[in-house]
Amino acid sequence: MKDLKIKSTIRVYNYDELETADKALIDKAKEATKNSYTPYSHFSVGAAALLTNGVILCGTNQENAAYPSGLCAERTTLFYANSQYPNDPVDTLAIAARTEHDFIKTPISPCGACRQVMLETESRFNHPMRILIYGTESIYEIKRVKDILPLCFDASSME
Ligand code: THU
Repeated sequence: MKDLKIKSTIRVYNYDELETADKALIDKAKEATKNSYTPYSHFSVGAAALLTNGVILCGTNQENAAYPSGLCAERTTLFYANSQYPNDPVDTLAIAARTEHDFIKTPISPCGACRQVMLETESRFNHPMRILIYGTESIYEIKRVKDILPLCFDASSME
């Protein structure tokens, strides 16, 4: 018997410590929350994807009366980016979330399904995708998706 230890690193920043380009991408994700459609949860999530070609695309969570038909902001954004630019890797994905009152204090934890889609985006282009998650009290920088999806299942698992 032995323990399998899994290590991942998340860097924690204050907003002021970020590079200008990262601040701008987070600002776009924050701005995007205004376009979410959330009549059921009243919880608005925005995401901004910076592609390696320099293009930035935003998306939001879109809810539905038939609840499972809705989609999180991260998947809306990545599917949109991959639909518009199927050959361009996503370099950085910024995410921000707010209630009706304010942005949340602690960076949101993307759901499992979104992490799985992030992983596919990273592996299909063989390019690490950085994730920036905004909270009013701290910002997380994750250097690659595998850091938040250990023991992941991807195409190589079927070889
Ligand atoms: N949601 C996201 O868009 N991203 C996340 O990382 C977590 C949750 C959405 C789904 C739903 O519209 C609302 O937030 C409440 O779960």
